[in-house]
Amino acid sequence: MNIVSTINEVRKQVKEWRKQGLSVGLVPTMGYLHEGHKSLIDAAVKGNDKVVVSVFVNPTQFAPGEDLETYPRDLDRDAALCEQAGAALIFHPEPSEMYHRDYSTYVDMRTLTQGLCGKTRPTHFSGVCTVVSKLFHIVQPDRAYFGQKDAQQLAVIRHMVEDLNFDIKIIGCPIIREEDGLAKSSRNTYLNEEERKQAVILNRALQKGKEQIESGERKSLEIKQTITQTIETMPLAKIDYVEVVDFQTLESIEEIKGEILAAVAVYIGKTRLIDNFIIRV
Ligand code: PAJ
Repeated sequence: MNIVSTINEVRKQVKEWRKQGLSVGLVPTMGYLHEGHKSLIDAAVKGNDKVVVSVFVNPTQFAPGEDLETYPRDLDRDAALCEQAGAALIFHPEPSEMYHRDYSTYVDMRTLTQGLCGKTRPTHFSGVCTVVSKLFHIVQPDRAYFGQKDAQQLAVIRHMVEDLNFDIKIIGCPIIREEDGLAKSSRNTYLNEEERKQAVILNRALQKGKEQIESGERKSLEIKQTITQTIETMPLAKIDYVEVVDFQTLESIEEIKGEILAAVAVYIGKTRLIDNFIIRV
């Protein structure tokens, strides 16, 4: 496995693979890799001849005051995980390689990015769409892999690929969890012992909502109430949002119908965690 930091090196490598008729999969990440990321790399290794993993803490998707500086980083560990999983190349650029001094072009989506995480993080998806577009242009993969953990991001990327005619297949992968149900996340490392215990409430509350739907409840208000009340039983939990939306449009719905996304963002102490489930009824 190779680790490269320049766009030219990636292009050169991918060109060579293309000459040999090999297919290429891309797994975009911000590093500090865990089992969730690994499941994406595993899927990419299964579905492609060569896999590129990008490891880049993308400054444009962080707002001032967010955790850009403290976001955990460990390239050696990431490299070991990628190599073991069978990736062929890590692309690990410096911010200046991706955004030169007079950088000024951004990809802004007008729908899908206003609600859910976009409400609290209004500039976040512009940063995500911009960096993912750049990675798509640099690597030009056949397939790119994204986790359902970030369900809004997955919906946004699918929509962007349609809108901008990227000839890339987007593969969504299921959420990987800790044994007690907490969705794996690089940000879980911010939690102290007590916060870590209370963090299970996101999944537990969502499970309750899901069971309610499975036993026939169709009013989204009822589901949201169940989820909200369950989360509020934990003293360290502060809700950012609890939403039930259509998974295609990400618009709020009153009646549970079709493919729906129930999503939450909750501060446990200072750490903002997200989780969700998707269900078709
Ligand atoms: P990051 O948070 O590092 O996540 C990289 C990918 O791993 C995303 O597609 C995310 O949904 C997936 N992932 C994270 N935790 C997961 C889990 N527990 N189960 C399954 N998949 C999981 O998302 C980003 O980085 C960035 O926004 C990025 C797309 C790289 C653009 O900068």
